[in-house]
Amino acid sequence: MTAKTIDGKLAAEKLRQGIAAEVAQLVAKNGRKPGLVVILVGDDPASKVYVANKAKQTDEVGMNSIENRLPVTTSEAELLSLVESYNRDPMIDGILVQLPLPSHIDSAKVLTAIAPDKDVDGFHAVNVGRLWTGDPRALVPCTPSGSMILLRSVLPDLSGAEAVVIGRSNIVGKPMAALLLAANCSVSVVHSRSQNLPSLVKRGDIVIAAVGKADMVKGDWLKPGAIVIDVGINRLVTAEGKARLTGDCDYESCQQVAGAITPVPGGVGPMTIACLLQNTLLSYRMRLA
Ligand code: GUN
Repeated sequence: MTAKTIDGKLAAEKLRQGIAAEVAQLVAKNGRKPGLVVILVGDDPASKVYVANKAKQTDEVGMNSIENRLPVTTSEAELLSLVESYNRDPMIDGILVQLPLPSHIDSAKVLTAIAPDKDVDGFHAVNVGRLWTGDPRALVPCTPSGSMILLRSVLPDLSGAEAVVIGRSNIVGKPMAALLLAANCSVSVVHSRSQNLPSLVKRGDIVIAAVGKADMVKGDWLKPGAIVIDVGINRLVTAEGKARLTGDCDYESCQQVAGAITPVPGGVGPMTIACLLQNTLLSYRMRLA
């Protein structure tokens, strides 16, 4: 069997087009663009690229993009006070503080300071609680949301499916488990301390790999026909000294056993920013209601 490739670039483009159409309608009616502010503290090169991409795509769907770049010397108190000012600003619907923050700033304190209704990352405990209790006001973390869209593109009815989530992070593994459970899957969350990982993964009709270990999941770990969503983005250097991106799944062997699989790059990655824009739109709509 050769797996179907799930095209995340195309799915993200479609999602952005739908968002842009809805934004145009809402702006015509309400006279105000949705506003998304991204705060970046310091000069982390990967974060700078990510933030620039976010700003470009925010503009492209007709939203107002505000980028706030602060020096690495910014104090925690200064950052908290800035977040507070955006919490009160009626033109701002989404606030994102780019992670990682410099080590002198307590990230948890900053993320908790963001108003839950503007928390487009979905990291605030209020949104985590809303997600797990099925509250429709939940702003859901972007990478798991994007993964669900890709999963449903090949398996619209997830009810009763056995899903295995590899990884238990607050950003991906845990919210992913909540979404799969809400979609009536039987869900296992496995992790670095799980025993006999391959045999646990083999139970999955659906496998979500979010561990951050390059090429860890091998084809012979999979149930034939399984749908594989590879959330990993790992940077490797080849023998020739070239940089190469790879996922948490060994694509070559997995695509011979899986029914469908997301590639890296071009799978889950492009969906994340599209889902951030979707959260900003949702937050704007909730503010109008
Ligand atoms: N750094 C890398 N990815 C993310 C993300 O999705 N949200 C935030 N806030 N920071 C990040």
